[in-house]
Amino acid sequence: MTDHLSEPATALRLAEYTRADQNEILGDGPDPFGVADTGLTWLPKEEHFGVRLDGRLVAHTGLLRAPIAIGGTTTEVVGIGGVAVAADVRGRGLARTAMAAALDHARTMGPRHGLLFCRPPLVALYERLGWRALDQDVYVEQADGPVVMPLRTMWTPLRDGADWPAGEVRLLSFPM
Ligand SMILES: CC(C)(COP(=O)(O)OP(=O)(O)OC[C@H]1O[C@@H](n2cnc3c(N)ncnc32)[C@H](O)[C@@H]1OP(=O)(O)O)[C@@H](O)C(=O)NCCC(=O)NCCS
Repeated sequence: MTDHLSEPATALRLAEYTRADQNEILGDGPDPFGVADTGLTWLPKEEHFGVRLDGRLVAHTGLLRAPIAIGGTTTEVVGIGGVAVAADVRGRGLARTAMAAALDHARTMGPRHGLLFCRPPLVALYERLGWRALDQDVYVEQADGPVVMPLRTMWTPLRDGADWPAGEVRLLSFPM
């Protein structure tokens, strides 16, 4: 059997990422990300980075450009989501590998900040990956209008010295 721990995994840009691909990583359970109780509608991601081991897709991170108003100024962030690693290969740095590839690409897209939403138990993990918690209410769009995001919001600079600006934060799209 191949010892994957001895070979550094590399992330690749995926030409597509279907529900079948997600099922290959996380299975086809009803709530693979543990966020169904929020009742939120989420955006699909537009670009995808993944890790394959022996041809099997085992990790994914997705991203898209999203409009946002911060302190009344409209700009864009790179929204990150769909972070997933197959249960049998977690804890080996594959989320770090997929995230690093996604952020390398995000840095070429223009926006100064990356943004993601996560369950509270994952805040420490994302902090290890260079993300920072945003400790304020963040509004996101839903079909009936803006709601306060019930999950934790985290951001990461995509350019040197990019601090998070002060002021009310409104994501002007569904969350990702
Ligand atoms: C969340 C998930 C993607 C993590 O995958 P993973 O492969 O185990 O993550 P990694 O091994 O790359 O760990 C990333 C870093 O976080 C660290 N870490 C892991 N758990 C941690 C914790 N509880 N507290 C602090 N740091 C933690 C790891 O040590 C690693 O840091 P290091 O590289 O400096 O050692 C995986 O558990 C998963 O797919 N869960 C189900 C889907 C999900 O909830 N996705 C998140 C959507 S927001």
